[in-house]
Amino acid sequence: MFDDVPPAPADPILGLTEAFKKDPNPEKINLGVGVFTDASGKTPILASVKEAEKRLAANAVTRNYLPIDGDPSFRGHMQNLVFGRESEIVFTKRACTACAPGGTGALRVAADFLKSNFPNTTVYLSNPTWPNHPQIFDAAGLRTDRYPWFDPVGNKLDFSAFLDTLSRIPSGSALLLHACCHNPTGIDPTHEQWAEIARILSSRGILPIVDFAYQGFGDGLEEDAAGVRTLAGLCREMIVCNSCSKNFGLYADRVGSVTFVTQSEETAAKVASQAKRVIRSNYSSPPQHGFSVVSTILSDPALATMWEAEVAAMRARLASLRGLFADSLAAKGVKQDFGFIKRQKGMFSFSGLTKDQVETLKKKYSIYIVASGRVSVAGMNEKTMDRLATAIASVL
Ligand code: LMR
Repeated sequence: MFDDVPPAPADPILGLTEAFKKDPNPEKINLGVGVFTDASGKTPILASVKEAEKRLAANAVTRNYLPIDGDPSFRGHMQNLVFGRESEIVFTKRACTACAPGGTGALRVAADFLKSNFPNTTVYLSNPTWPNHPQIFDAAGLRTDRYPWFDPVGNKLDFSAFLDTLSRIPSGSALLLHACCHNPTGIDPTHEQWAEIARILSSRGILPIVDFAYQGFGDGLEEDAAGVRTLAGLCREMIVCNSCSKNFGLYADRVGSVTFVTQSEETAAKVASQAKRVIRSNYSSPPQHGFSVVSTILSDPALATMWEAEVAAMRARLASLRGLFADSLAAKGVKQDFGFIKRQKGMFSFSGLTKDQVETLKKKYSIYIVASGRVSVAGMNEKTMDRLATAIASVL
């Protein structure tokens, strides 16, 4: 049977990491996957995480199964981070949260939940979006469609085209939004635009699914939640999928959660029971370690403060690399305006590099960039910036 299985294409992002690892060139640069690297080029374990791990190791007593929806303390912390401690949603208990293996796991639980309860839902995704989004919803058996997002002229949000599509999407559809640091464009709506989006979604009965993978990497932990909170202020129902991969540096531990905001505590309990059913038949219950690390940090004010400072430092580094990248290209005489890189937020920007240019950068310079032209600022480094800018200037 297996002899006839055709090989699957490599993943557009993680497949690139595989190729990068095999490349023997000592000067290779990986701008593919969104993984933070420090000035030494390493992806560090945060000091707050190391301290939490020390405490966990000292106090460990059991490795018994966790509940199907995971550690209750972690779930509470995620609701506070997303909606704010004082939020009416948290206070009235009308949301239920389940732990999930990373942001991808959270999205898949959301997708399976929708498929089993609302099988005819179409999920609208931004054009462009993270390449795994369509795969996740397709795998769950849901239909997907696209809404316009990116205007290549000026490298900005095409808000009028987006609103036009929003006004035509059938009620009862779901629409996936990126809470902040849009992946792959780095373009987020303004406060006013979020308010407009929230108004249309709520009045037209469209369910927001919010992918919140980069909290703290845009303008700040609270600031980055402003869009979700604006949506939650008007849309009585929504789904939020969040990830602790980036902001806790827990990439390998697969720490994420899915939150269903409902209209009452009673409904939240019913929805939680359905989410648990989906999880049980998928991976049974979540793992423990990364979730306990996050819980330990967020339960201790001193450790939480230490973590917030570490997130702020990662955010500042990304902003500084954005500036250095744009300035280095200008210094190499690149005529094209790359000023948008400085204005955009988070790990990614859409560089405008063509597929052929990306291919040349890989073949000639061992510089790895996603075929769409998305660059991960997180993979840049002060020491290799000159080489990177020279190479890009040579293909433009
Ligand atoms: C990315 O977009 O590079 C990250 O979200 C990592 C991934 O899983 O693709």
